[in-house]
Amino acid sequence: MKILAIETSCDETAIALLDIEGSLDKPKIKVLGNALYSQAKLHEKYGGVYPTLAKREHIKNLPILLEKVLEEAGITPPAKGELEGVDLIAVTSGPGLEPALWTGITFAEELGKKWRKPVVPINHMLGHVYSVLYNLSNTECLTLPGLALLVSGGHTELVLIKDFGDYKILGRTLDDAVGEAFDKVARMLGLPYPGGPEISALAERFRGRRNAIGREFPEADREQTIALRLPRPMLHSGDLNFSFSGLKTAVLYKIRELTTNDRQLTDDTKEAIAREFEDAAIEVLLEKTTKAIEMTTPKALIVAGGVSANKYLREKFKELNTKTYFPTPLLSTDNAIMIGIAAYIKVTNNPSTLERREEIQARGKLSIASSHLVPPQE
Ligand code: KG4
Ligand code: ZN
Repeated sequence: MKILAIETSCDETAIALLDIEGSLDKPKIKVLGNALYSQAKLHEKYGGVYPTLAKREHIKNLPILLEKVLEEAGITPPAKGELEGVDLIAVTSGPGLEPALWTGITFAEELGKKWRKPVVPINHMLGHVYSVLYNLSNTECLTLPGLALLVSGGHTELVLIKDFGDYKILGRTLDDAVGEAFDKVARMLGLPYPGGPEISALAERFRGRRNAIGREFPEADREQTIALRLPRPMLHSGDLNFSFSGLKTAVLYKIRELTTNDRQLTDDTKEAIAREFEDAAIEVLLEKTTKAIEMTTPKALIVAGGVSANKYLREKFKELNTKTYFPTPLLSTDNAIMIGIAAYIKVTNNPSTLERREEIQARGKLSIASSHLVPPQE
């Protein structure tokens, strides 16, 4: 099945053309063309994604990326009529920023009409879930039921995947997403957007240095760790929900306390804060996931979404006793390949999806549970 996938839910404009076949638990995925343009640099001065700017950039970049992808795949679009070499068009319809989502949807619908191809709406979070199918080794397949921890700039949720097409949210953040907390803390420390990789680099530098210094001055190390101790929100809440807003505010207060009387944060202190924040956030993610594993005994754990690129997080999750799947780092953050893979799952599972003819709507808060083959009776 040849799928042209389009992703514009946030600040990445991405298009990919994939050829996918085989079983859902181990599909054979060939990337025929792939192009991605990250707007992160443009949004840097706003400290986050500015929706109107994202929309303008998507509109500008989509035709350029499409041309690149078709050229890479060796496809020349006809002046008129049906396009050969593509079976369907997949487009992210939510969740995300609605002005940004609409650009991808409008673009996809226009192509669908022009080339007479079905257009299939895809849930962005399912894209993250199925991103792990891309880098299965020869001996692996994705055995369900699975548990997915989805950690991105907009979401933090634990999802039970009983089967392909059967999704149940077990827990989610009550306020900020974990990636959002990384971004906000980075901003407080004067680091550029997106903050996740920046915090991660500082924290890693700290750990490396402290491993050496800590041996020499264990007391100083211990004192600093205690002085910078941050809360682990909802760790013992008894449910599988998260909250990261209090942790972020605790960092803000800590920085205020350390910068009274015009004092500046030293590089060492910034690194120590980054390390403590990363430790706290990951400890909570790990603890709740462990609890969800005990409750659901899944055969697979999927950890996906932008924050899953975090090296320390990966190290910690690898210590769990459940077979854990991560996307390859390039597919951790937003991309179109994962949207194409999710489309393959959706269409293979439910071919009637191709016959849908109602207009696709952008849905900023689209829930993964609404991708359930049989919608839950709620
Ligand atoms: O999945 P994604 O690309 O976009 C959304 O769907 O939101 O996730 C972006 C988020 C940002 O908050 C970014 O700071 C975070 O992922 N991120 C990281 C790392 N790389 C990206 N967070 C922690 N450590 C990283 N290495
Ligand atoms: Zn995402």
